[in-house]
Amino acid sequence: MTTVSTQNTPTGATTDTAAPLVELADVGKRYGNIIALREVTMTVDAGKVTCVLGDNGAGKSTLIKIIAGLHQHTDGTLRVGGEETTFTSPRQALDAGIATVYQDLAVVPLMPVWRNFFLGSELTTGFGPFKRLDVARMKETTKAELADMGIDLRDVDQPIGTLSGGERQCVAIARAVHFGAKVLILDEPTAALGVKQSGVVLRYILQAKERGLGVVFITHNPHHAYPVGDRFLLLKRGRSIGYYEKKDILLGDLTAQMAGGAELEELTHELEQLGGHTSQMQQVQAGMAESQARPRA
Ligand SMILES: Nc1ncnc2c1ncn2[C@@H]1O[C@H](COP(=O)(O)OP(=O)(O)O)[C@@H](O)[C@H]1O
Ligand SMILES: [Mg+2]
Repeated sequence: MTTVSTQNTPTGATTDTAAPLVELADVGKRYGNIIALREVTMTVDAGKVTCVLGDNGAGKSTLIKIIAGLHQHTDGTLRVGGEETTFTSPRQALDAGIATVYQDLAVVPLMPVWRNFFLGSELTTGFGPFKRLDVARMKETTKAELADMGIDLRDVDQPIGTLSGGERQCVAIARAVHFGAKVLILDEPTAALGVKQSGVVLRYILQAKERGLGVVFITHNPHHAYPVGDRFLLLKRGRSIGYYEKKDILLGDLTAQMAGGAELEELTHELEQLGGHTSQMQQVQAGMAESQARPRA
């Protein structure tokens, strides 16, 4: 297991000019007797994409809920901008610049795109009894912000429900960027998408990174994580089974780790001893690698 080193200069002095946006040190979470997460260490830096990979039940959602203020960690340390922190509400995390886009996007399908974009943060004009929604400015801003991210919507008046899943994810990302998020957490944004739409979402992840946001990208698909990720945290049953900088791991190794390569090898060996089912086992392995490559619905 590789750990990402702290910022040590060649002389050994630490440069703490820029504290990481978010830092987890041996963070754990117990729900009563159930240990959902244990000893997880991870860093989110500005302009970097940190990927969190793991199968169902690995603890991915638990991890992001801690950073997003939905749940509190029970062990270890969470630091935000260098300060030890425990968020007690999602509002606190949001105020600290941490925006989360959940898989089941909290959008109102029949409302126009611009209305969803400003939901809960509407612009108004006038004062007192004359105060009303500044519809023109909200439409204009939505259009401009989306165009800035390379999203070309003909009409921001169309109901958001008419957009594809990928487009909706992109609107949510553009929204977070507009409202000044420093950290953007994406929970399985590509899980329900086809290949082409996944590609579009991956492109906006890179755009957010280029704008200097620290992105946390949750996925179970190494083929989605690898091209955009700078670091990879692998979770399995609540434990970290690896934390790698991109230069230290190849896509093939990432895929093998995700597929439980070691366990399969062991199983192959056992089957061999039982009497030569190796070719069958290879087929199983190939099948698993392939299913990992495909997005799950
Ligand atoms: N609120 C909860 N109460 C009890 N156990 C939970 C709760 N949330 C998650 N867990 C348990 O924690 C483990 C990790 O879950 P989760 O973080 O949702 O995994 P993932 O998002 O990777 O699928 C699972 O075993 C799950 O049953
Ligand atoms: Mg989850």
